[in-house]
Amino acid sequence: MRWRRLFYLPLLGAALLLAGCAGRAAGLKGADTAQGKQLFVKNCGSCHTLADAAVTGIIGPNLDDAFRAARSKAGGGFQDSTFFQITLDQMRLAAPPMPRFDEPPNKLPEEELVDIAAYVASVAGKPVQQTGGSATAP
Ligand code: HEC
Repeated sequence: MRWRRLFYLPLLGAALLLAGCAGRAAGLKGADTAQGKQLFVKNCGSCHTLADAAVTGIIGPNLDDAFRAARSKAGGGFQDSTFFQITLDQMRLAAPPMPRFDEPPNKLPEEELVDIAAYVASVAGKPVQQTGGSATAP
């Protein structure tokens, strides 16, 4: 699993560069990450582990582990914007067992998808911030 992800991250990065800012620059900046955190816990926490959100699902990949390496210089030094796009895409293109969140029965408004993606991008694979609030998990 792991090698496959590490392989596709750089490819995705290149695709993003090529795509430029095509379409809406669905706002990483303007997103409400506090709301994104709540939505993440509710919609994603049953399957994913993310330390900042203090959730420990194991059906899907641990999102801290998934993004940590790619943040490092050796792993490509990818920025929040990349993880934002990956997460947003994943919610729209997910394959079972992960449900798609852009269509019923799990459909969320676009704005909420953006908030979730921005939240995940802002914390996944980073040390948990004191200001991150409730999380105590490592
Ligand atoms: C029913 C369980 C389930 C739920 C709910 C779920 N996921 Fe997933 N998720 C998975 C599985 C399983 C994978 C692995 C899919 C694969 O590798 O093809 C995955 C993959 C991912 C990935 C890609 C990680 C990587 O290493 O490439 C991201 C990002 C992600 N999910 C985010 C979310 C978000 C955000 C939500 C909530 C809106 C969510 N998931 C809800 C099961 C789930």
